Amino acid sequence: MLVVQKSTKKESARTLTLSDNTTGKSFELPIINGTLGPSVIDVRRLYVETGMFTYDPGYTSTGSAESAITYIDGENGVLLHRGYAIEDLAKHSNFLEVSYLLLYGKLPNVEENKKFTHDVTYHSMLNEQVTYFLRGFRRDAHPMAIMLGVVGALSAFYHDNIDINDPRQRDITEHRLLAKMPTIAAMAYKYSIGQPFIYPRNDLSYAENFLHMMFAVPAEEYVVSPTLVRAIDRLFILHADHEQNASTSTVRLAGSSGANPFACIAAGMASLWGPAHGGANEAVVRMLQEIGSIERIPEFVRRAKDKDDPFRLMGFGHRVYKNYDPRATVMRQSAHEVLEELGSRDEPLLKLAIELEQIALGDTYFIERKLFPNVDFYSGIILRAMGIPTDLFTVLFAVARTVGWLAQWDEMIADPAQKIGRPRQLYTGPAERKFIPIEKR
Ligand code: ACO
Repeated sequence: MLVVQKSTKKESARTLTLSDNTTGKSFELPIINGTLGPSVIDVRRLYVETGMFTYDPGYTSTGSAESAITYIDGENGVLLHRGYAIEDLAKHSNFLEVSYLLLYGKLPNVEENKKFTHDVTYHSMLNEQVTYFLRGFRRDAHPMAIMLGVVGALSAFYHDNIDINDPRQRDITEHRLLAKMPTIAAMAYKYSIGQPFIYPRNDLSYAENFLHMMFAVPAEEYVVSPTLVRAIDRLFILHADHEQNASTSTVRLAGSSGANPFACIAAGMASLWGPAHGGANEAVVRMLQEIGSIERIPEFVRRAKDKDDPFRLMGFGHRVYKNYDPRATVMRQSAHEVLEELGSRDEPLLKLAIELEQIALGDTYFIERKLFPNVDFYSGIILRAMGIPTDLFTVLFAVARTVGWLAQWDEMIADPAQKIGRPRQLYTGPAERKFIPIEKR
């Protein structure tokens, strides 16, 4: 059963006073403290008391949820899941253990770990009907389009367990989604290259199984390299959750209406697909290929700084991190390990990335704007070296982030104070006007 986290938020003695210089009225806004990080100004009664909304498109100053799952200190490059540093989790844990941590709020003991691993493993097969649905896509369909469609369609298969108010049913759905995502991702890949689908194997770990479904063929035995298993597992850990990012907020907003979890996760995937979010690792590899050689780096750095040129250094910059993304440090190390093992043709791409990073980090434009490599700067290089096609990069991100989406969705549904999410707006359209019949326009 789920561990229900008790809220640790505290009303502080501090308040913020707002004064309206037209009416001369002033209003006291309570300030709330969390465990770590900036306090928040509670504006929930603002509209009732002042008749005004806050305005914050892009949510740069807005906390949209109370959450006990993930903490980011962007200024200092810190990322904690349920209090544990991402570097420690990447070094000492594995993806299913981190998944348990995200979902249930604590690291599992031996028995809990065994049961959770068993439960997830035994949900990894898909209903065979799903394969017919998948076969309806064009062979050249983008795998994210296939994933989105298939994940959304799963709601048509599990009518039995989508009572979102029943914690046990939520639990089963979470195991199902977590278990089936690698299977769907691998099937989308196999379909695109015209190979037969490879079914999951329950004797393999989560990461091993994924690589097996991706690269095995019925004609011969497939042996998975432990270095590559570790690299994929670590990549999954590093992408597992990242508090209220665009896709997670999308999952929460979709879920706040009571929509079924499969549809909510599909909504999150749609948001993740964009190049400013999960599409960035794909864009990094394309960018490095376009740059092509170390001599051309200055030209691209110049373009990235030019306001009249839409080009940006992909894999650089982050809404929250104003320091080195701690995930990028682990990812860079992982890139070295993978390329060493594979003796890869991608060595020049990694060299180019390291050089580009160095040049950008020494450039005042990037220094002043606190633009550092993010998690995606090196992840694409690892995936490419492992033989994972560029089109599939965001799919892998979605596989890993599913557990974060689920943990955040569950936390929201379990919160008794949960309401449908419904932002307001600053209306700038025409004031009311009279309808003119078409012949008089
Ligand atoms: N290259 C060049 N300049 C950049 C870059 C970049 N990658 N990122 C930001 N800037 C500049 C902006 O032009 C802006 O400059 P200005 O103040 O002179 O106008 C300043 O830095 C601030 O940028 P914003 O766009 O306001 O920052 P925001 O927080 O809105 O954007 C984002 C963050 C979308 C990640 C942005 O940095 C970007 O587009 N990066 C490249 C794409 C990328 O790597 N995305 C992956 C994000 S991580 C993830 O989703 C897992």
